[in-house]
Amino acid sequence: MTTIPTPSFRPRRLRLTAGIRRLVRETTLSPADFIYPLFVRHGRDQRVPVRSMPGVFQLTVDQLAVEARAIAGLGIPAVILFGIPAVKDAVGSDNYNPDGIVPQAIRAIKDAAPDLLVISDMCFCEYTDHGHCGIINAPGQPYYTPGLPAGYLLNDPTLELLGRASAVHAQAGADIIAPSGMIDGMVAAIRQALDAAGYAHVPIMSYAVKYASGFYGPFREAAESPPQFGDRSQYQMDPANRREALKEARLDIAEGADILMVKPALPYLDVLSQLRAVTDLPLAAYQVSGEYAMLHAAAANGWLDLRRCALESLTAIKRAGADMILTYFARDAARWLAEG
Ligand code: PBG
Repeated sequence: MTTIPTPSFRPRRLRLTAGIRRLVRETTLSPADFIYPLFVRHGRDQRVPVRSMPGVFQLTVDQLAVEARAIAGLGIPAVILFGIPAVKDAVGSDNYNPDGIVPQAIRAIKDAAPDLLVISDMCFCEYTDHGHCGIINAPGQPYYTPGLPAGYLLNDPTLELLGRASAVHAQAGADIIAPSGMIDGMVAAIRQALDAAGYAHVPIMSYAVKYASGFYGPFREAAESPPQFGDRSQYQMDPANRREALKEARLDIAEGADILMVKPALPYLDVLSQLRAVTDLPLAAYQVSGEYAMLHAAAANGWLDLRRCALESLTAIKRAGADMILTYFARDAARWLAEG
């Protein structure tokens, strides 16, 4: 004999109509949750498509103005900038050149859309000829330290250059500096450099918990930044570790981070959710290039519905604890949300 549940245990009551589902919905997305990544390249009047990321382009500085106004018009509050310089070298000097690609881009965006927040991704991998996120120990190269292994990422010289580049980007008008290299002490070094240069009011959004992930593949094509040898496992986190994520986050909080980020997003929702429970700081999550590419590839095959699955993923990321989401879907999602 089947037992009929008592009428008081019927959660489906609250699912019957779209109206009641809306009334009891716990998590809602808004364009105000999104940060849109932009890739800026040298040259003029070009929009170079990124093969593995449909709808994403490397834009020249002049094209950014158009883009920035469109993004602001959709109610998206912020962009994050990645620069692809004309020339790369061992120390990534374009990153701290006041006329480098990102400072130019910041000024162009601020001119075109003054209220759009510009976050500057602060890392060296796009600027170094070896593609690593800082200075690499190599005979004959700057900062060579014979006692340390060849190929080792030199932590403290990198910190000095991160501080210098951050002040340059702040001077160009960056609203937030977002160090993404997982260099030990990067938040403290950047805080100190910003304060010393008169930018104590500029917040730091730290990529506090960034995993050595295969999901960054398409980004490295977009930013032309794959490491020329080895991988990033000596500085980015092991995907197997969760407690270590809390340690990284605590260090960044102690160093003065204003916003913490977890990256990638969907494969690390457990980490995001746990971090939400241990800090009161705003949390960002980065839905990375591979997450975007996967959904597009499946949708292009007719295997899933892009809009539905993209919005579901974004909702899940927010539900797990993100206050804001860096996503290549920002423009599309803002439009989808407006359509209702
Ligand atoms: C490093 C950086 C990376 C991403 C953002 N900042 C790449 C990396 O660590 O190799 C990846 C973002 C993405 O995959 O969408 N500057």
